[in-house]
Amino acid sequence: MFKLVTTFGAGSLLAFSAMAQESVGDAAAGEDVFRQCQTCHVVVDDEGNTLAGRNARTGPNLYGAIGGPAAHDADFNYSDGLTAAAEAGLEWTPENVIAYLQDPTGFLREYLGDSGVRGKMTYRIRSEEDAANVYAYLAQFGGEEAAATN
Ligand code: HEC
Repeated sequence: MFKLVTTFGAGSLLAFSAMAQESVGDAAAGEDVFRQCQTCHVVVDDEGNTLAGRNARTGPNLYGAIGGPAAHDADFNYSDGLTAAAEAGLEWTPENVIAYLQDPTGFLREYLGDSGVRGKMTYRIRSEEDAANVYAYLAQFGGEEAAATN
C-alpha cells in the first residue's frame, strides 16, 4: 500500500515536469494564487493603472518584474540579499521565479553561495504548481517588453 502511494506520487511529479516544459503554469489559476500576494504586492503599469492587487507596498510593484533582471522597481528599497543577487546577474526566468517563491531567503543563499544572506520577502508558496501558475499570471504584465527595453 505504502509503495503504491509513493509510486503514484513520483508519477504525478513527473507528469507535472513534462507539462511545465511545454508551457509554464496556468495563468487563470495563477490569478487566484495572486490573492496570497496582494497583501504585499500590486501590479501598476507605467501610466499608474492598477492591473492587479490594491495598494499594498510592503513588496515591490511587480509590473514588468517577470522575465527581466531582479530588483527592477527603482522606487523599492530591496534587501541587501536581493540587491547582491541582482548585481550578480539574477534574472527572473521561470525556473528562478518558481524556486524563489517557494523559499525566497533560501533561494538567495543558494544563488549567492552565502548562508548569512537574508531576503525581505517572508512569504513562501507551499506548492510548486501554485508557484508556476502565479508565474504565468504575472508574466502577462509587461515582463517581456520590460526585458527587451532594459
Ligand atoms: C509578506 C509580504 C509579501 C508577500 C505575501 C509576498 N511578497 Fe513578494 N516580495 C516581498 C518583499 C518585501 C520583496 C522584496 C524582497 C527583498 O528585497 O529581498 C518581494 C519580492 C518579490 C519578487 C522579486 C521582485 C523583484 O523586483 O525582483 C517577486 C517576483 C515576488 N516578490 C513575487 C511574489 C508573489 C508571486 C507572491 C505571492 C505568492 C508574493 N511575492 C508574496 C513581500 C511579499
